Amino acid sequence: MTEYDDMDWLYDVLYASFDEQLLEDLFIEEYQSYLLKDIKILDASCGNGVQTAALAQRGYNVEASDISKNMVSLTNERLKKRELHIKTFVSSWKELPKRKDKYDLIFCYGNSISHSLNKEERINNLEALGNCLRNKGKIIIETRNWDKIHKLRYTIYEERTYKGKSYIPIYIWDNMDFEKCSNVQIIFIENDYGKMKTYEKILTFMPFKHTDIVKEAHELGFTVIEDNYSIERDNYCFVIAR
Ligand SMILES: C[S@@+](CC[C@H](N)C(=O)[O-])C[C@H]1O[C@@H](n2cnc3c(N)ncnc32)[C@H](O)[C@@H]1O
Repeated sequence: MTEYDDMDWLYDVLYASFDEQLLEDLFIEEYQSYLLKDIKILDASCGNGVQTAALAQRGYNVEASDISKNMVSLTNERLKKRELHIKTFVSSWKELPKRKDKYDLIFCYGNSISHSLNKEERINNLEALGNCLRNKGKIIIETRNWDKIHKLRYTIYEERTYKGKSYIPIYIWDNMDFEKCSNVQIIFIENDYGKMKTYEKILTFMPFKHTDIVKEAHELGFTVIEDNYSIERDNYCFVIAR
């Protein structure tokens, strides 16, 4: 059982404030230059499948995996609703190379790499993803910009509606520091026509400096071919290849 198994449908609540079609279009537009015809793609931490579905809907040859069985189920539900038929499976990044499948493009998207809970684990995870690349393959890593936000105490997100009920998610960040395991307590305040209820979930992560993860990628023999980091950004993305 992983922390994201416990999160389950509440992960969909986090996405409920967004116009999903617009979100998909923006995602595809941002990575269009890497989405070449006939490549094989893996969304290696697919979560609830928003990015996987965006790719599958547009005809890309994509597979989806995640360490969390319940997250893969959410992805499957999303794909089924849209009658999209692609391969999905449960796997940690560490276990991926055992499957022997190779990809031209791997997404490690949506702050997933921060769930590597120490430096060694992060390096091993990057290496494992690298071992699943075809010749000239690339990994797209998108993450929160911990350089900017590691001093945050809490984040209150806007109210959103999910299955007819309203929710306000609040993230309470616990003593964030670089290279230290931290928790975020996520409180969802549910308002069902005046009947209030709260749900609490805890996720564990480890903030890292941009310079550190880029250095690690170099030490593992990757070349950074694109990097949109700047201290002002809340999230950044870098693309590595061997
Ligand atoms: C913040 S969510 C991002 C999900 C999705 N990519 C998105 O952007 O919404 C992080 C995801 O990473 C997955 N994850 C965490 N550690 C992992 C690991 N070691 N191997 C594979 N997936 C992992 C979690 O189960 C979760 O679904």
